[in-house]
Amino acid sequence: MSTLNVESGTSYAGILGVGAYRPSILVPNADIVDAIDSSDEWIQQRSGIKTRRFADDSETVVKMSVSAAADALEAAGVDAHQVDCVIVATVSHLLQTPSAATMVAHELGTDGAAAFDISAACAGFCHGVSLANDMVRGGSARYVVVVGVERLSDITSRTDRGTAFIFADGAGAVVVGPSDTPAIGPVVWGSDGEQYDLIRQKEDWRDVLASDSPEMPHLVMRGNEVFRWASFSMAKIAQQALDRAGVSVDDLDCFVPHQANNRITDAMARAMKLPSHVRIARDIVDSGNTSAASVPLALERMIRDGDAKSGDVALLIAFGAGLAYAAQVVTLP
Ligand code: COA
Repeated sequence: MSTLNVESGTSYAGILGVGAYRPSILVPNADIVDAIDSSDEWIQQRSGIKTRRFADDSETVVKMSVSAAADALEAAGVDAHQVDCVIVATVSHLLQTPSAATMVAHELGTDGAAAFDISAACAGFCHGVSLANDMVRGGSARYVVVVGVERLSDITSRTDRGTAFIFADGAGAVVVGPSDTPAIGPVVWGSDGEQYDLIRQKEDWRDVLASDSPEMPHLVMRGNEVFRWASFSMAKIAQQALDRAGVSVDDLDCFVPHQANNRITDAMARAMKLPSHVRIARDIVDSGNTSAASVPLALERMIRDGDAKSGDVALLIAFGAGLAYAAQVVTLP
């Protein structure tokens, strides 16, 4: 019996560049409150959000992804022709098939790179980084573009008090490729399908279409339970990611959690006893919760504002519908 050839990649992979696309329509709390009988003060106090961005009709999932990915490639100094794989994490590409990633790979100018979408909701981007790390180290790709992108304004009801003020649109991207030193730590990831119903699309498409007056099946969320799960369980996952990478909170420079809600971020920082020198991403204040896009958007913002610099050690953690979660420590490009 003949044996098969196998390939191995590089010893280490890292994030080589970060990019972002922030859509054009600025939506302050004042534009949200009337439809949900709320107030700017309540929204800021409960979530930290002051304003968010919605995409206009031309700012599609693919267009936002291509723009963020092109920025990430430029920051990484990598040409589109060198890209072997494009991974798009999203739950709001409203075409069941083909994937957004195939169109992004084409419009980005890759030479027919492998391309696929992943559905892990708010945790999708950190799942993508983990896959890309393994691909580069395993030899199936040298350069991988990972995009997190959402147009949640399409699937959020403007009159739902529990979600209308939280969810928003945008895209963030990174390029993962070979690194001389370890720059992406082991992933800690998992899911809790028993809590599948806490955040979900309200109805299956078949039920929607069977209705006499079909309507877009919006996201629904049992906010209180999500809040408790995220605040209590995710700090433990974050600590495991630090332990697996062999670093302590004292070694961290930046904490970049999913921008779900500032109070969840505060609860995690307290539970982890983050020292005061650790800079914490607060992009939610004017970006809202952009699900799969939130971690790369927050990271790009920290780099642009000078809150994160090359060589910094950052903890990424994301969690959401599923319930799915993923965390890893990275060294910034
Ligand atoms: N505006 C104003 N008041 C609101 C409101 C809104 N949008 N939504 C609820 N309220 C009111 C309720 O009527 C209730 O009033 P009462 O005390 O007089 O009865 C009070 O606020 C508390 O309602 P409750 O539903 O228990 O809200 P909450 O304290 O759980 O806060 C969230 C709601 C959504 C802010 C909170 O659950 C949350 O942040 N959850 C996590 C959401 C999240 O981060 N999801 C993303 C994960 S990926």
